Amino acid sequence: MNPVALDPPIIEEAGEGWLIPAHPRPLDTPPGALRLALMARRSLLAPWTAVSYAARDYDFFLLRRQVCVFNDPASIRTVFVTAAERFERKGAMMRRALAPLLGDGLFISDGETWGRRRPLVADIAHKTQVPVYAPMMTGATAEMLKGWRDGAEISLLPAMAELTAQIIARSIFGTRLGAEALSGIVHGFGRYQARIDSFNLPFFLGAAEGWRVGRGAALRAAIAEVHGVVEHVITEHIAGRGEHGSMVDLLVRRMQRSPELSLDVEALRNEAATIFMAGHETTAATLTWAFYLLAKAPWAEAALQAELDAVLGTRVPTIEDVPHLPYARAVIEETLRLYPPVPILPRQAREATQVGNIMVEKDALVLVVPWLLHRSPHLWAEPMHFRPERFLGDAAPLPYSYIPFSAGPRICAGLNFGLTEAILCLAMIAQAFRLRLRPGFRATPVCRLSLRPRHPILARLEARR
Ligand code: HEM
Repeated sequence: MNPVALDPPIIEEAGEGWLIPAHPRPLDTPPGALRLALMARRSLLAPWTAVSYAARDYDFFLLRRQVCVFNDPASIRTVFVTAAERFERKGAMMRRALAPLLGDGLFISDGETWGRRRPLVADIAHKTQVPVYAPMMTGATAEMLKGWRDGAEISLLPAMAELTAQIIARSIFGTRLGAEALSGIVHGFGRYQARIDSFNLPFFLGAAEGWRVGRGAALRAAIAEVHGVVEHVITEHIAGRGEHGSMVDLLVRRMQRSPELSLDVEALRNEAATIFMAGHETTAATLTWAFYLLAKAPWAEAALQAELDAVLGTRVPTIEDVPHLPYARAVIEETLRLYPPVPILPRQAREATQVGNIMVEKDALVLVVPWLLHRSPHLWAEPMHFRPERFLGDAAPLPYSYIPFSAGPRICAGLNFGLTEAILCLAMIAQAFRLRLRPGFRATPVCRLSLRPRHPILARLEARR
């Protein structure tokens, strides 16, 4: 099929003081099954129609599979909160794509395993722990900025991914072991992602569990690389050679204190690898899109810099400064609205359940789609515009209309970590540099497992002082 028919054109418009940032033009009519499957395989942001954005809830059948899209906050509350135990199972495609690497790690586990491990992971990434990790956030950013030069050009996503990988690796493994472990883990994750297909066609053909992902030699080598590095760090901690206060240190101490949790090295490895995956790509994507938006919206960039100059001047921020940076926070929140790093939250219905006006069948694919919800004209004024101001003051989004971190019992375990990290990194980078895009450049947002630009976003660094 002609690739043009599979990739809708990207729309971006701007004027004096306003910006409608890059997004694929909604389709006029729903695609047929084949085109839908091919489009979804290229990007899960592409196959939506104008009606999908405006609609509340709807369902359709793709081959033999019922697919339910919930876009009404009341239905989202049912799926994530009131009937959460029926919808806690992640979609088969997501589980199949990630299980070889993450095993029963929290992001894809469910049932009893998830129930036992959630409090454990929630504790180690809890907001009371964030002050311990904040110096790693500012330290890694300062190191990165030391290497940046006025006039140089960087590729935004890899630069931000390297930064957030540094931060999460030091937080999970400790500063010394984190630095040693990092290149192996990043390399292994990169190789894994390059070989994994997040779109599992057999699931749509009726196999409730999709197909097991084939494990060729290259995929096995990538998995072995990540597992080997993480297990090494864990055994170092068990042998007493780890750093006090790191996430692995907390996990190991918990393992030793609470035998009833039946944690072993493999369980700790799965949780550590999960936190690494869940905790660095998301923040890297947030920072990438935030700087893309600021470069396209000079008025917002100026407001951010005025706040940073007034509150921080040239000093390095600390976690105590975060509550005094409301505009920086609003930029991050608005970025997460327009470009939610996890733009689709897939679930597999455990049993038939009525949600709103839709009878959800057992094994149906249930999609809550922040990408659509955050752009719904029923819930947001000027939904396609970039307007950080909507998050300032007392203005709060309607309940369950804004869910970049999901909602209910499975809400992101690293919410406070991720928000604090994004605000501190944004503040430090914007204190020192303006980022300038190549003239006329327009990003193409695409979604496979996460939302990312299809092509590199190159930015020229302009030193502020
Ligand atoms: C801006 C940054 C982040 C965003 C937007 C984000 C978003 C999300 C979302 C949407 C989910 C739920 C996925 C679903 O329901 O299918 C999730 C889960 C999770 N996130 Fe985050 N996340 C971020 C940062 C982090 C960080 C920094 C960590 C760790 C320190 C983390 C750890 C986790 C874990 C462990 C889960 C699984 C929770 C469970 O299933 O119980 N995340 N995240």
